[in-house]
Amino acid sequence: MKTAITELFGIEHPIIQGGMHYVGFAEMAAAVSNAGGLGIITGLTLGTPEKLADEIARCKDMTDKPFGVNLTFLPTVNAPDYPGLVKAIIDGGVKAVETAGNNPAQVLPFFKEAGVKVIHKCTSVRHALKAQSIGCDAVSVDGFECGGHPGEDDVPNFILLPRAADELEIPFVSSGGMADGRSLVASLAMGAEGMNMGTRFIATKEAPVHENVKAAIVAASELDTRLVMRPLRNTERVMTNDAVEELLEIEREKGADLKFEDIIEQVAGVYPRIMTEGDMDAGAWSCGMVAGLINDIPTCKELIDRIMAEAEEIITKRMGGMLA
Ligand SMILES: Cc1cc2nc3c(=O)[nH]c(=O)nc-3n(C[C@H](O)[C@H](O)[C@H](O)COP(=O)(O)O)c2cc1C
Repeated sequence: MKTAITELFGIEHPIIQGGMHYVGFAEMAAAVSNAGGLGIITGLTLGTPEKLADEIARCKDMTDKPFGVNLTFLPTVNAPDYPGLVKAIIDGGVKAVETAGNNPAQVLPFFKEAGVKVIHKCTSVRHALKAQSIGCDAVSVDGFECGGHPGEDDVPNFILLPRAADELEIPFVSSGGMADGRSLVASLAMGAEGMNMGTRFIATKEAPVHENVKAAIVAASELDTRLVMRPLRNTERVMTNDAVEELLEIEREKGADLKFEDIIEQVAGVYPRIMTEGDMDAGAWSCGMVAGLINDIPTCKELIDRIMAEAEEIITKRMGGMLA
């Protein structure tokens, strides 16, 4: 399949693996890229420019296909060394970057000059238009269904994607709730040039996370995610567990007085314990409603091949048959 996104990134299939904290290591990115999609290393998980440079080198040992790096811009007290991370990406010869969080305007000139294509992930049409106006090459439009940070507008993809299509001139991919060939065809129908998946890629053989995480996603239904940190205007969609229910109880008790310190135990530094050690009640971890559509743990190649075959079948047979 050829779309503006396959052309932009030089990939075979219009499928991107979104950056994921403690999941997006070289093994994940290389597996997706080797399967013809665009794999993405999560820059902030590595943390320092030196470690990111090593991870990029490791990924290059595992694939000769294009892959990208995610740079998430968070409002934090101890800001990561963003200029150093940008340099590691450019020096490493990476040609695709997924930015997310705050406006990436400060880093864009460096990437433009180095010929790095930038896709900015955003949760509203106004942020997508902003990304377009500052010179991003594409956007990833993340609907309310998504795992991670859906923003504060709560607009699901059935509205958000056609709205984006009506307003944007640069290409965009759908993100949030995407799992299979149906997701891809629906996204294309609504004006997207491909799709981005997070949660679906965690439940794959190559995802470098504890088996408990994959099993939890397969076992979960679409009813098993919760929104946390809404009172802090830092909403995150996570898989429910004991720690999350405790966190929500604290949010209910504190109401508008809630401070980050009140829930620090449930959210800070929990990713290694969950993703690496498999301690599934250690705290809140991002997970999309799409868990309800995930019932197996294929390889990335099996997953992507299946998505593309299903998409082709829907377009040519199911829909083609309706017109015949
Ligand atoms: C465990 C996990 C960690 C994530 N970490 C990040 C991150 O560090 N930076 C980022 O931009 N997005 C992050 N995301 C969001 C994904 O890149 C993607 O946008 C989202 O998962 C799409 O929704 P889906 O899970 O329904 O496919 C994360 C998602 C998950 C599930």
